[in-house]
Amino acid sequence: RRRVGVLISGRGSNMEALIEAAKGADYPADIVLVLANQPDAGGLATAAAQGITTVVVDHRPFKGDRAAFEEAIDARLRQEGVEFVCLAGFMRVLTPSFVTAWRGRLINIHPSLLPALPGLHTHERALAAGMRLHGCTVHFVSHELDAGPIIAQAAVPVRFGDTADTLAARVLAAEHRLYPRALALVAAGRATLAQDRVIYADAQAVAEASL
Ligand code: GAR
Repeated sequence: RRRVGVLISGRGSNMEALIEAAKGADYPADIVLVLANQPDAGGLATAAAQGITTVVVDHRPFKGDRAAFEEAIDARLRQEGVEFVCLAGFMRVLTPSFVTAWRGRLINIHPSLLPALPGLHTHERALAAGMRLHGCTVHFVSHELDAGPIIAQAAVPVRFGDTADTLAARVLAAEHRLYPRALALVAAGRATLAQDRVIYADAQAVAEASL
C-alpha cells in the first residue's frame, strides 16, 4: 500500500472520503498524514480522531516566502515517507519547484469539469453561464493553475431552481465518490502521468475514471 499525504485548508470532507476509502482491505493506499496550512482547519480534528498524524504548516509566519513555506511542507511529507500527495481543498497555489518535485505523484480535486471553470466560485459561474452539466475533476497538478492532465471526472446535472449551494452539495457528493477512485487508480499505478497526458493501464481503468 502506498503512503499518501493529504493537504487541506478547511472542512476536509474530501480528506474524510479518502480516509474512509483507505479503510478498505483492497484499497491500494493509506492516508498517513494530513497537513493543513490553516491552524483552525476543521479537517484536522476529523483526521486526528481517526488516529492519523496531523500537522499544521501555517503559511503566515513565512510572510510570502512561498519557497520556504513549501520546503517546510516538503520536509514533513518526506519525514512521513509520503509517496503521493492529494490536495483536498488546499487553497494555496504551489510553485513550480514543489510541483516539479512531486510530478506525477501530486493530484488535486477541482469543483468543475475542467478545462471549464478553472479558479474560484465555480458553482456560481456554472449557473451564470446556464450550464446544464457541471461536476468535478481529479487531475495531476501542473504548473498552470487547475490545468493539469485529467485523471477522472464526474458529471452532475444542473437542476431547475438550483442555487450555488444546492449545486455545490450535489457536486460535493460526486467529489466524495470520485476522489477515492482516482487516488486508487494513481496509487495502484493504473493511471500514470507521461509527458502531459495520463496513461491508463487498461480499459477497466478508463471506465473507473468517469462517473
Ligand atoms: C471542494 O469542493 C474542492 O473541490 C474545492 O474546495 C472544496 C473543499 O471541500 N477545491 C477547490 O476549490 C480548489 N481550488 P472539503 O474541504 O470539504 O474537501
